[in-house]
Amino acid sequence: MADRAKNSYQHEQGLEDALVDLVRVGVSGYGAGVRQIAGRLLRSLPPGVDEERLRPALRAALSSSATRGDLRFASGERPQDSEAHPLVDVDPHPEGSPLVLEGEAMAVLREVVEERLNRDRLELAGVSPTRSLLLSGPPGVGKTLAAKWLASEIGIPLVSLDLASVVSSYLGSSGRNIKAVLDYAQSGPCVLLLDEFDAVAKRRDDDTDIGELKRIVNVLLVELDRWPDTSLLVAATNHPQLLDPAIGRRFDRHLELKLPGLEERMQILDRLDESLSGDVRSLVSTMLEGASGSEVVKTLETAKRRAVLKGDRIENELLGEVVWKATQSGEARDRAWSLASKVLGLSARQIALKADVSHPTVSAAIRREEERSRG
Ligand SMILES: Nc1ncnc2c1ncn2[C@@H]1O[C@H](COP(=O)(O)OP(=O)(O)O)[C@@H](O)[C@H]1O
Ligand SMILES: [Mg+2]
Repeated sequence: MADRAKNSYQHEQGLEDALVDLVRVGVSGYGAGVRQIAGRLLRSLPPGVDEERLRPALRAALSSSATRGDLRFASGERPQDSEAHPLVDVDPHPEGSPLVLEGEAMAVLREVVEERLNRDRLELAGVSPTRSLLLSGPPGVGKTLAAKWLASEIGIPLVSLDLASVVSSYLGSSGRNIKAVLDYAQSGPCVLLLDEFDAVAKRRDDDTDIGELKRIVNVLLVELDRWPDTSLLVAATNHPQLLDPAIGRRFDRHLELKLPGLEERMQILDRLDESLSGDVRSLVSTMLEGASGSEVVKTLETAKRRAVLKGDRIENELLGEVVWKATQSGEARDRAWSLASKVLGLSARQIALKADVSHPTVSAAIRREEERSRG
């Protein structure tokens, strides 16, 4: 709920507040922060401004600075391995699909952004912003997306390193390669994403460990301790239990991302396709219980593709995928049909047509489901 309040605060923020923010961040010389405020303005212009004039002018002002200042970092030399392959991906203007997380997790991420934008004030008070963040959680819950979101909100480039591939392909020299990437990321303001972090940060007592992995862990321990507050280090892992506890402790903050709940699944669908009716959204989200954010997005995208090819409505394809076909039999099917009759107000006959079964089959299923929910 706090999340929601914050959201609407941003939408209701007036031009006056934005101006004050701009001056405050501008005088501190934090170009990335100015860009971030401009980006926020572009996303939701305050009411009462001349949109047609302001939008293009803001865009032009933003791009005129793109070749100067801290972005020079992102377009310059990148660290390479011994065969001159680039070791990192650099995204100078990260833009991802919308990130939807439960309120508390979103609040933590927002706080990290706010700290960055108020770095000067924190410095005056003698504290630094969060410098390192460890994201954990099952696959597809938005860890990589969250790193992108952070970079985009702060207005700095995203530098990504997939540790699993570094370790597997160049084990002999991975310690050196990782050091090169860390040095590079420390040289300019950026979000450095160390993805698949557990690939190197294994417990040092792990039997499979070999000398090189130990060296890498030691490099990371040192670098995490002396990480500067100009860049934000984000590490992501599906297996936090594999991490060396000594490494885990070095991070300023930990955030565990969970599978999306019903509310979040509905929001993900809503943010990606505003045309879905509330009923369809709620029915589909209910049926997608246990799905990751990634699975929710993929389901919608599959439905969209089919809708285009067949010239059908997305809603029909989505229901076809999730409600009519996905559940072959058993309690899940009973529940799907019963929900469909309740939420969409369809008769047993209409459901039977869609699911390609006889209507007594549907009626029986709905009756069973009613008995179940009563008993
Ligand atoms: N919490 C989320 N909110 C919105 N979209 C999500 C979320 N989690 C996953 N997705 C979708 O799934 C894709 C893959 O997610 P990703 O960030 O790579 O997951 P992870 O890194 O945790 O495995 C994202 O690009 C996005 O489209
Ligand atoms: Mg990922």
